[in-house]
Amino acid sequence: MADGKIEILADPEALAQRAAEWVVERALATSGRFAFNLSGGSTPKRMYQLLAQVPLRDRMPWDRVHLFWGDERFVPHDHPESNFRMANEAMIAHVSIPPAQVHGVPGEGDPDEAARAYEATLKAFYGADTLDPSRPLFDVTLLGLGEDGHTASLIPGTTALDETRAWVTTVRGARPELRITMTYPVLDSSRAVAFLVAGEAKRAMLARLRQGDRTLPAARVKPVGELLFFADRAAAGPA
Ligand code: 6PG
Repeated sequence: MADGKIEILADPEALAQRAAEWVVERALATSGRFAFNLSGGSTPKRMYQLLAQVPLRDRMPWDRVHLFWGDERFVPHDHPESNFRMANEAMIAHVSIPPAQVHGVPGEGDPDEAARAYEATLKAFYGADTLDPSRPLFDVTLLGLGEDGHTASLIPGTTALDETRAWVTTVRGARPELRITMTYPVLDSSRAVAFLVAGEAKRAMLARLRQGDRTLPAARVKPVGELLFFADRAAAGPA
């Protein structure tokens, strides 16, 4: 069984509410910068919306929150497929986070240069070029789970799975749009990683993930801190 605690919520709305409250609790338990590494995809959208609504909006210490993205589709930030756009419309545009603390992945120009630029952004924020396990880069990293076992854009059969030197890399040919993703060492540099998994379609994969099936890219995420799963009943299976 993989390490990591699971919380099973009745439905997607309860999952979003619980995950949003959990992030606020973690932010309030810290002092100084709160590095919040966002997931893309559709599952986290409702959670982001709740973080931008009373009461959570007014409890979150936005003045010291820094936002990052674990992966991005290499498209402009106003593109329908953009993870930045989803988070911006659901949350960022409605909260008082200083714009300089919103660290989006570049979505235009040369993709390899964009990956290098994002890696430079991460290193500048961290203040070093080497990750120290005793000093994680992120306070919270949110991740989703694909039906093929991917997470972020660490997709089966791609070279990104074997990248341990670069912090950020490009993923070509695995999805219609070119992807940019953080690599395992960077995702692992988190005080807490929380997978958000909803829907019956994810049931088989979530079971394999929790069993630690290392053929799944998602199962290879090993945070230096806590590993948690927030799942709805449909994804977790019958009690
Ligand atoms: C992305 C995400 C990806 C996502 C999973 C789950 O850019 O699409 O980073 O890893 O989290 O594919 O997606 P859903 O939440 O839409 O099921």
